[in-house]
Amino acid sequence: MDALTIISQEHSNMWRLAASLDHVASDVQDGAPLETPFFEAALDYISLFVDRMHHPKEDDFLFRLLRLRSAEASEVLDALEADHRHGPDNLAQLRAKLTAVSQGQLPKEEFSKAVKLYTDSLRGHIKTEEKHVLPLARKLLTSQDWAEIDQAFSNHSDPVFSDQSKAEFRELFHRIVSLAPDPVGLGVSSLLSPQSGATASQQPLLLKVQGLESCYGRIKALKGIDLEVRRGETVALVGANGAGKTTFLRAISGVQPISAGSIHFDEEDISKLRSDKRMRRGICQSPEGRQVFGPLSIEDNLRLGAYTQPRHQVAGDLEKIFAMFPILKEKRSLPAGTLSGGQQQMLAIGRALMGRPRMVLLDEPSMGLAPLLVEEVFNVIKTLKSQGMTILLVEQNAFAALAIADRGYVLETGAVTLSGTGEELIHNEQVRSAYLGM
Ligand SMILES: Nc1ncnc2c1ncn2[C@@H]1O[C@H](COP(=O)(O)OP(=O)(O)OP(=O)(O)O)[C@@H](O)[C@H]1O
Ligand SMILES: [Mg+2]
Repeated sequence: MDALTIISQEHSNMWRLAASLDHVASDVQDGAPLETPFFEAALDYISLFVDRMHHPKEDDFLFRLLRLRSAEASEVLDALEADHRHGPDNLAQLRAKLTAVSQGQLPKEEFSKAVKLYTDSLRGHIKTEEKHVLPLARKLLTSQDWAEIDQAFSNHSDPVFSDQSKAEFRELFHRIVSLAPDPVGLGVSSLLSPQSGATASQQPLLLKVQGLESCYGRIKALKGIDLEVRRGETVALVGANGAGKTTFLRAISGVQPISAGSIHFDEEDISKLRSDKRMRRGICQSPEGRQVFGPLSIEDNLRLGAYTQPRHQVAGDLEKIFAMFPILKEKRSLPAGTLSGGQQQMLAIGRALMGRPRMVLLDEPSMGLAPLLVEEVFNVIKTLKSQGMTILLVEQNAFAALAIADRGYVLETGAVTLSGTGEELIHNEQVRSAYLGM
C-alpha cells in the first residue's frame, strides 16, 4: 500500500501549506505587508502539483478502482471529483485576487477572506479523503488493484510521476518554505524548540574553526577555513564536487589530518585529539556514502555507533532509534547490506545518534536517493533540529539544505567564499546561479 503512504504524505504537505497560507493571510489582514512572492509560489505549487499530479493520481487510479469495488463509495467520490474539476478555476480566481490586491485594487481583508475560503475547502477535502476514502480503499481494494496503483505511482518514466517531475515539485516546495515569512516557515520553524532556530544566534559557540588547512600530499584541499556553529544551530556547508566539504567534516571528526589552524569544541582545543576522543566529546559523523557494515546486522551496526558509550544505556538508546526509524526495528537482525539506499542512510544517521552526539556531522545524507526518500531524510533532519540537536550538514542538494539551515557557508576549492543565513544564501544571485540552477 505504498500508494496510500504517498497520498497521505502529500496530504500532510498540502495541509501544512494551507495552514501557512492562512497564517500569512491573517497577518496581512492585521497590517503586515503582502508577501506576494510567497503567495505566488504557493499558488504555483498548488496548480502544478495538486491540480496536475495529485488529483489525477487519485482520479485515475484510486477512485476509479474504488468505484469498481463499491457502489457506496460513488457518492463521496462524485463530490471529491467535482472538487478536483473545479480546482483550477478556484485557483485562477484566487490568483486574480492576488493580482488585484497587489495592485491596490482589492482591499487586503477581501483577499484574506478569499484565502481562508480556499484553504477551508482544501482542508475539508483532505479530511474527507483521509477519513472516508483511504479507509475504504484499505478495506475494499484487492491486491491486484494495489499492484496496479503502486506500479503507476512508481513509474519513473511517466511525465507526471517521474522522478524528475517529483524533484521539480520538491524544489518548488522548498522554495515556498524559503519564501514563507519567518514565524511560519511551513511547519519547519514551528517545530523548533526554544534552544534552536531563531534563538540559536544567542546560544554559545559549540564549534569554532579557525584558519583550518588540510592537504593530500602536496595538494592543499582546505585553504584556511573559518567556520562557527552555535549550540542548537543547523549549519549547511554547500559547494560543488571536490570543493572540500568531505575533507572538512573528516578534519572536524579527526580522521583527516590538518596542517594548520585550530578546532575548538565547547571551548576546548581538540585540534590534536584522536578521533575516538572527539567522539567521546560528542562529535559524531554520518559519513559520505553511508559506509554501513554490510555483512553485520542492522542492530550490530547501531551498537557499533555506541562503542564509546556506557553499556547500560545502549538498550534504551537503541529503542529510541527504532522508534525514530521503525523500518530498522523491523529488520534489526538482517544484514545491513540488504537495506535499500534510503534505509542505509537512516541506519548511518541512527548509528551516529547512538554515540549521543552533542553535534552531528551529516555528509550528503540525500545523495543517490529517490526524491521521496530525500524528503524523508530531510524530515529526519528537521526532527533532529526540532529536538535541539546541533547539526553540521553537507549537501549537494543546496536548496533543500539552505532551506532548513539557520546559516550556511559556500565552499569553493577549499575556501569559504560566502556565508550568511540560509535565507540570505538562497536569495543570493551567485549561489542561485552556481548551485541552485536558477
Ligand atoms: N584521498 C584523497 N587523495 C587525494 N586527493 C583527495 C583525496 N580525497 C579528496 N581529494 C581531493 O581533495 C579535494 C576535496 O575533496 P572532497 O572529497 O573533500 O570534496 P567534496 O566537496 O566532499 O566533494 P563531493 O561533493 O564530490 O563529495 C578534491 O580536489 C579531491 O580531489
Ligand atoms: Mg564529499
